[in-house]
Amino acid sequence: MGDKREEGLSALLHETRTFPPTDEMVKRANAGPGIYDEANADPLAFWASQAEYLTWDTPWTETLEWNPPFAKWFVGGKLNVAVNCVDRHVEAGLGARVAFHWEGEPGDTRTITYDDLLKSVCQAANGLTELGVRAGDKVAIYMPMIPETVVAMLACARLGAPHTVVFGGFSSDALRGRILDCDAHFVITADGGYRRGVASPLKAAVDEAVAECPDVEKVLVVQRTGQEVDWSEGRDVWWHDMVSRQPEHHEAEAFDAEHPLYIMYTSGTTAQPKGILHTSGGYLTHVAATHRLIFDIKPEEDVFWTAADIGWVTGHSYIVYGPLANCTTSVMYEGTPDTPARDRWWQIIEKYKVNILYTAPTTIRTFMKWGEDLPAAHDLSSLRLLGSVGEPINPEAWIWYRTHIGREQCPIVDTWWQTETGGILITPLPGITATKPGAAMTPFPGISVDIIDNEGNSVGNDEGGYLVITQPWPGMLRGIWGDDERYKETYWSRFPGKYFAGDGAKRDQDGDIWLLGRVDDVMNISGHRISTTEIEHALVSHPAVAEAAVVGASDATTGQAIVAFVTVKGAGTEGAPDGEEFVAELRDHVAHEIGPIAKPRQIMLTPELPKTRSGKIMRRLLRDVAEHRDLGDVTTLLDPSVVNAIKVRMSDGAEDKE
Ligand code: WTA
Repeated sequence: MGDKREEGLSALLHETRTFPPTDEMVKRANAGPGIYDEANADPLAFWASQAEYLTWDTPWTETLEWNPPFAKWFVGGKLNVAVNCVDRHVEAGLGARVAFHWEGEPGDTRTITYDDLLKSVCQAANGLTELGVRAGDKVAIYMPMIPETVVAMLACARLGAPHTVVFGGFSSDALRGRILDCDAHFVITADGGYRRGVASPLKAAVDEAVAECPDVEKVLVVQRTGQEVDWSEGRDVWWHDMVSRQPEHHEAEAFDAEHPLYIMYTSGTTAQPKGILHTSGGYLTHVAATHRLIFDIKPEEDVFWTAADIGWVTGHSYIVYGPLANCTTSVMYEGTPDTPARDRWWQIIEKYKVNILYTAPTTIRTFMKWGEDLPAAHDLSSLRLLGSVGEPINPEAWIWYRTHIGREQCPIVDTWWQTETGGILITPLPGITATKPGAAMTPFPGISVDIIDNEGNSVGNDEGGYLVITQPWPGMLRGIWGDDERYKETYWSRFPGKYFAGDGAKRDQDGDIWLLGRVDDVMNISGHRISTTEIEHALVSHPAVAEAAVVGASDATTGQAIVAFVTVKGAGTEGAPDGEEFVAELRDHVAHEIGPIAKPRQIMLTPELPKTRSGKIMRRLLRDVAEHRDLGDVTTLLDPSVVNAIKVRMSDGAEDKE
């Protein structure tokens, strides 16, 4: 573990208060005191009891079939995920309950009940069928945060057609890569969506992407902004023409518990994002159970808000599948927290009387910067529980969240998980856990984790190590789409028989777990995973660039920030590109290749990159340069003067700051 993480940890451990659950929480919490013992005694029986909350067409015969590293959960069981999220609630007489209070960025709103959702999902399923979508076909979804996005996902689930939702902020190139990788023949999109008052051109990006995807047959387009769009006759279909005229009834088929539900692309340590595959029965069991027990959901009274984008796994599991399986009322918001003003979230909470808020530390730190007067000007007394996800939460942000948003009363659940884990794995449980600011605390019931050293031995308390998961769990990824070898290699080869998460962690003296950040080349920018290699790849694809190295430097608001060191072709010679304009061009190039979230905060043009004698780029050293730290030992360097040259240029202010 690097020095940086150790420093980070001592800062974390400075805050020593613990916050026991209130008496009221102890009394009312869904998770009772015996839950850990029950799950420890028989984890499979525990998960089977959680699966009983779902409605199965055919019961399973075996809870788990484990051929490491391949798992099958609820073997032989059949269910339809969409029926579990919608139909069964309507059949139970709950159709009038609101599924979503939707708030558009410009201020338009929609209220969608479970009755409405059922009608829309059936119509969309009929529409997709008419377009030719069949069970097993992949459907790419590239949408803003509008109700049709949820409807599209559920319609796919209903038909057994795995969806791959691509975050609307990704570029057309990134979209194309994903469409091709999973061989999607259908795309669902919108003309655009609103972000910071501007209509984004989603359809135009799809046109660009699909131009080089010969197998895409149909593009279904929701009208959201009304902006001009190009139209490809025969391929493009308006949602309002096609879906709205469909019958409101659709007979759903039950699929195997292991039928693919979705593929979500995420950054790993190589340039090529990985298609993480999730299936049906185990995944839904996991997200429904964690949603009910961690957020202490009382569906008949609560208003729940996961303030994330559906294009990320947090949106899949805790805006769509978990909450809907539990018949919850959720808020869904299209835009950013600062539009039209910086109190938009607090307005929304006051308006809908939100009880549970789930967001990321980077957003909390942004709110801290904007000041506590904004939340203080609103009535946030409906809130009773707060959640955090995406990166380690620093104690200052934790305490601020509790004090200024939670009125010193709301428990905070800091939830650790990943795209690969499907749902939350490490978290406090309200009503049981006495929380510590900055700690994710305890494996969820039925989950076994360890923290180990390089040799695979468990480390003692207060010693840092690698986080591994030692037993299969129902929401676990079933593989990387189309690449079983990569799945084994990435997650199961470093420590045979154990799932390697890529995170560093530590148990404190009480045995409680603290996450310490990634131990690989994956950065965490505002809670979004981005790989250094992916950005290096994008930079090198620029014709003028010879070589690039990217590091994540710590940043007070976004957690980490992207810093790139770039060597241009013919560096140092007359006419080689240089200067601020060229740096701006490179940043735009990265945005075009991947998306604006991948734009480096700084790009440093340098005649050479520091390398070891064996030719490896010294990233640790570049990170130290990027963070203006002392360099330590550089004797294995090929040419130590390179680093000094970089450092001098950096402190000269030759960097490009946004
Ligand atoms: C990080 C997001 C510390 C971690 C759900 C993980 C966290 C990566 C936490 C997964 C947390 C997520 N504390 N770190 N509570 N939650 N992470 O796939 O490094 O986008 O490996 O899934 O985010 O990011 P992903």
